[in-house]
Amino acid sequence: MDSLTVGGNSGIGKGAAIHLARRGARVILACRNAQKAQEAITEITSCTGNQNIVFRKLDLLSFKSVREFADRILQEEERLDVLINNAGIPDTNTHDEDRTPFPSEDGYSQSFQVNHFSHFLLTNLLLDLLKKSSPSRVVNVTSRLNTAPTKLDFTVGDGNVRYPKLTHYTKGKLANVLFTKELAKRMEGTGVTSYSVDPGIIFSNIWEKQITKWKVHAMSLIFWLLFCDELSGSETTVYCAVEEGLQSGLVYFDCRPSRHVNSLIENDELREELWNVSLEVTDLK
Ligand SMILES: NC(=O)c1ccc[n+]([C@@H]2O[C@H](COP(=O)([O-])OP(=O)(O)OC[C@H]3O[C@@H](n4cnc5c(N)ncnc54)[C@H](OP(=O)(O)O)[C@@H]3O)[C@@H](O)[C@H]2O)c1
Repeated sequence: MDSLTVGGNSGIGKGAAIHLARRGARVILACRNAQKAQEAITEITSCTGNQNIVFRKLDLLSFKSVREFADRILQEEERLDVLINNAGIPDTNTHDEDRTPFPSEDGYSQSFQVNHFSHFLLTNLLLDLLKKSSPSRVVNVTSRLNTAPTKLDFTVGDGNVRYPKLTHYTKGKLANVLFTKELAKRMEGTGVTSYSVDPGIIFSNIWEKQITKWKVHAMSLIFWLLFCDELSGSETTVYCAVEEGLQSGLVYFDCRPSRHVNSLIENDELREELWNVSLEVTDLK
């Protein structure tokens, strides 16, 4: 099996890479930081014995980087069985006064670009390879917070920071489940299926980006007592990557269909609007 894990150098992505490596898969870690990626490869190789783990550079904060990465994958890889869109960032990079986000180099909210637009672009650029490798899968890592937004509204062409209303982590996570379901619909009959994963609460670096260090230390004890570590926290991701008989388009939690899904997922017009806006933003039209 050939798999590609976006954001595989830490947390849930690294946990999934370890599970897949244990199953003998070739694992491509798509990461922005070469040193962190090499450290992860050393760890994955030493705990699984799998030597077939490689790093390819990808920075989701840049559409140019996503395109260069996809070009390299298309040139080098014969097949791709599983694409795991796992990377995510919280809404930390914002102006203090009004919490508007610092834009990415492409002019969009950093969190919405990393959490949705770049995964959308990457998936579409790799779709032909996924189709050629079918049956193949796309796994999008969302969050229970996908249920928080009551709407997703789009504002086009507003100066430097376009789509300013799409600033929130929760909206990016809602976009993940809408994208998954729309992709499932569009891929019917091709052998490419897609799943969203709600990983639960996992003690990972994402918390350090949101709260102070001493709070992280205090929380680590609570997490250790109550919640999952990276390895068990990635089990549903791996389940969606390998298990037979799953229903394409659904959100999975704890290795079964989740009951905690935003009802907006059933809104066909919204899903299509998000798809069209994403095509426009990522210049795929
Ligand atoms: N942990 C939880 O409790 C929890 C709960 C619900 C959902 N999730 C979701 O689970 C996913 C994984 O998060 P995690 O908890 O495992 O956090 P994490 O350890 O911080 O992992 C996030 C990964 O994304 C990568 N990443 C961030 N920005 C990137 C960029 N611009 N380009 C390429 N890679 C980038 C990070 O790389 P760097 O190391 O270079 O930053 C890291 O490898 C996220 O989508 C998150 O929203 C997590």
